Amino acid sequence: MKILPNVKWYESAVFYELYTRSFRDGNGDGFGDFAGVLEKLNYLSKLGIDAIWFPPFYASPLRDGGYDISDYRAVDARYGTIDEFEEIVAQAHALGMHVMMDLVLNHTSEKHAWFEASRRNPKGPYGDYYVWADDNKGYAGTRIIFSQTEPSNWTYDETRGQYYWHRFYKEQPDLNFDCPAVHDEVLAIADFWAEKGVDGFRLDAIPFLYEREGTNNESLPQTHAFLVKLRKHLDTHYTDVPLLAEATTPIAENLKYFGTADAPECNMCFNFPLMTEFYAALKTKDARPFVRTAQAVFGNLPPGAVWSNFLRNHDFLTLELLTPEDAEKMEQWYAPSEGVRNGGIARRLAPLLDFDERALRALTALLLALPGSPCLYYGDEILMKDDPSLSDRDSVRLPLPWDEADRAVADPDSFWNWLSSTLHARREAPALVTGDFEILPIDTDKPEILRFRRTAQNGGAAAIFKINFKSLEFGWEKVHL
Ligand code: NOJ
Repeated sequence: MKILPNVKWYESAVFYELYTRSFRDGNGDGFGDFAGVLEKLNYLSKLGIDAIWFPPFYASPLRDGGYDISDYRAVDARYGTIDEFEEIVAQAHALGMHVMMDLVLNHTSEKHAWFEASRRNPKGPYGDYYVWADDNKGYAGTRIIFSQTEPSNWTYDETRGQYYWHRFYKEQPDLNFDCPAVHDEVLAIADFWAEKGVDGFRLDAIPFLYEREGTNNESLPQTHAFLVKLRKHLDTHYTDVPLLAEATTPIAENLKYFGTADAPECNMCFNFPLMTEFYAALKTKDARPFVRTAQAVFGNLPPGAVWSNFLRNHDFLTLELLTPEDAEKMEQWYAPSEGVRNGGIARRLAPLLDFDERALRALTALLLALPGSPCLYYGDEILMKDDPSLSDRDSVRLPLPWDEADRAVADPDSFWNWLSSTLHARREAPALVTGDFEILPIDTDKPEILRFRRTAQNGGAAAIFKINFKSLEFGWEKVHL
């Protein structure tokens, strides 16, 4: 892959979210694993992937797909071993791919030894590791994220005789970031994995680290101060280990996660604000709302900040950032029968687009042409199905059908092969990928047409990307400077 001398690896990379449990079963026990990942690294490399993001594979009761961690220094035995993970990192690197993993800092599993100790011995060394209170009155009004299952963010613990705070399932108690030892622990966990060769971290649920009475307990200044500390820690010890924020927050709040030139925080943020605009533009055939959001997200980025643009991931397609009216429209367009669960839609990309390959190619081409590092979701390269009848988010986490993948790879006309050639072509034009971005004015008679120019920062090349949300035509046009 061509990387420009002044560009960091993650600024031009295409990421692939690999959900280990469902990707490839290497040992035949019906559960995806690291042996399976090792078998299929060549598949990813051939597809044209630059970086793999692994959601949590730590030891876990799997109450929340692994986002409930019981040991941060162990791999869940169902996936394999740490040695196998190190082998994945080594082989991925040999193929020119980077490896990013989840760092879940906001909460642990209730089965983590820290929580066991904390509930048993309030005066002991782990007594303050979690957020405890004598009653459940504190932080009133804080929204409940998993509102379908959790009646409250507080749960009573019989052993300790107090309530503990949790923003997600009650089996995921929140860590107490006011406790200095918690900071030391999480920095040491980041070191543990960085020393194993991991190239970057996705920061799960990062807005929720701190609580303060009288606020909404999201994106508090203390959280940003902690991120400055984490960024500084990594920069002191390693080179170019980026942090990618998962912050489903309005644009102004989201931009703050990049930090400032003097106090940098995350290098990358998932582009939640723009994600729903792709789907809306497809239905309204009007590019203007997409443009308004794109101007706002790409317009004021600090130097070196990168958006991770995406269409789908392992969660519901969240409608959290939309006005009630816009959320209602999305529901009518995309989930008329299933409805919305926990504020999102339980569908995968291809079914959302009615398996219309023209729409799929058009939206994917747009995703790949925008500034930032796109992130694809495993299986979307073969138009994977979903199963909305399954509970929670299992609906969008089905096992990847490898017979279908093999057929797609072998078929020169498949979406897989179109995507692969598009990804390889993208790699050949890194100056455009990281270059300047300018949206061209929309013709009032043709609101369905979006055009933007990418110009290499060295001034050597420019091209205009055009997409018509009505006809679904799209393409690049070279511009002579
Ligand atoms: C966001 C993750 O993407 C989601 O899967 C998880 O349930 C929550 N954070 C809690 O960790």
